[in-house]
Amino acid sequence: MANCSKACAIALTISCLILAASAGSFYDEMDITFGGERAKILNGGQDLSLSLDQYSGSGFQSKNEYLFGRFDMQLKLVPANSAGTVTTFYSNKLSSQGAGHDEIDFEFLGNSTGNPYTVHTNVFSQGKGDKEQQFHLWFDPTAAFHTYTILWNPQRIIFLIDNIPVRVFNNHEASGVPFPKSQPMRVYASLWNADDWATQGGRVKTDWTKAPFTASYRKFNANADKVGANSKSTTSENDNQTWRTQGLDGAGRNRIRWVQNKHMVYNYCNDRSRFPNGLPVECSRSRFL
Ligand SMILES: *[C@@H]1O[C@H](CO)[C@@H](O)[C@H](O)[C@H]1NC(C)=O
Ligand SMILES: *[C@@H]1O[C@H](CO)[C@@H](O)[C@H](O)[C@H]1NC(C)=O
Repeated sequence: MANCSKACAIALTISCLILAASAGSFYDEMDITFGGERAKILNGGQDLSLSLDQYSGSGFQSKNEYLFGRFDMQLKLVPANSAGTVTTFYSNKLSSQGAGHDEIDFEFLGNSTGNPYTVHTNVFSQGKGDKEQQFHLWFDPTAAFHTYTILWNPQRIIFLIDNIPVRVFNNHEASGVPFPKSQPMRVYASLWNADDWATQGGRVKTDWTKAPFTASYRKFNANADKVGANSKSTTSENDNQTWRTQGLDGAGRNRIRWVQNKHMVYNYCNDRSRFPNGLPVECSRSRFL
């Protein structure tokens, strides 16, 4: 997935770090990075739609870079036959300095009509990924908007869906597991074709007679530490700093247990065939990954 956005990487000089909470319009917060007219900001900046056809997908990225924060986005995914399509919402640092790239991913792998989307999550740090967990959803993500959240603080990364934690990736640097914490990241989103692998292992291809495919985004909110030159601060009504130290409380643990028991369809920590020399270290350190 990093390959689709590599072309759009822009080096930013990091000049200052300011505290900011923002819920501005897409005009203020985002730049369209590819796809031209296929990406549309609508309703005075309140909504953004991405589309995909035979020639191109489309995508956008945040104007700002952030070092830690809580990023909420509402998404309504491509309806009906979305096989072969991948819709994304992620944070990323494409490092050209050799430190390796950091990335925290939500990817929504489409499916043929009537079959469930797969929500794919991954964490890359210093260029190393291989930490996939996948879920099926307990609702139809194409019927209405739902909120997808990346919460990233120095202790852990939490993925939430409608405020329900679905995954926690703890900082296990003490055990030698890299954790993204020194490179600021931007927030990205895209809709693209990946029918070589995305749906049922690549067996189900994109049906271009149904193109263009469209996914919609709204209500981006960043409660985050903004970094860099482009730091026009917009203050949000939602200036909630809980994310800085947030972990799982008892209710959170119950909910993640429910998600992981009932809705998880892949966990790299259970995939011994992939790691014949032993599971990654963090797999035995945390109850919840
Ligand atoms: C598509 O549907 C099949 C059958 O229900 C399921 O096994 C698969 O996980 C779904 N998602 C993707 C992305 O293939
Ligand atoms: C701040 O966010 C936390 C975590 O989502 C939530 O539990 C809490 O109610 C929020 N506080 C306020 C004042 O909105």
